[in-house]
Amino acid sequence: MKLSNANLADLLRKAYSAEKAASFAYQGHAASVSDHEEKVAIRQIEHDEWNHREEVLAIMNRYEISPSKWYEFRFHIIGKIISFSCHLIGWFMPYYFAGRLESGNVCEYFRMMQLFHELGITEHNEVLYEMGIKEKEHELYFLGKIKNKKLLPFFEKIFFWGSEQSFNDVNLEEKYPIEESRKYCKKG
Ligand SMILES: [Fe+2]
Ligand SMILES: [Fe+2]
Repeated sequence: MKLSNANLADLLRKAYSAEKAASFAYQGHAASVSDHEEKVAIRQIEHDEWNHREEVLAIMNRYEISPSKWYEFRFHIIGKIISFSCHLIGWFMPYYFAGRLESGNVCEYFRMMQLFHELGITEHNEVLYEMGIKEKEHELYFLGKIKNKKLLPFFEKIFFWGSEQSFNDVNLEEKYPIEESRKYCKKG
């Protein structure tokens, strides 16, 4: 079966490649921190991103969508550049920008779910929900590491993400079950 929504197919391709960029970035991030616990936590997150890539590919295969060569190339380069730059920009910024990126990724998966629903497809609900929630956990992990740092309010003002602002409306303390998760990410 082919997907009749070209926008959704493109979102899947982009997510597939962006997960690779994230995985590469976390390799550099994990290598750049000296604290053992931080290294282990970031490696786990890298592992989660490789898993997401597999899950997205499984959905793509279902609809005969092949990865985009351009996205694969572009995100490969982006991931490697971020990975390398983690060694140069100090401790705070890799945490900050990882959290900010994760914050934006949360809604990607909930929006995909909504687009599938528009086509009457609900069979990917569970996996898309799990991935969206996992990205939220990643966001909170990174935020937790920097929330008491003096630089955060300054960065938050410039880049619109931090203790007060997020790019999604998911609250893990009062999260919706899968059946109601279509309520997430309606804005923007
Ligand atoms: Fe991910
Ligand atoms: Fe993530």
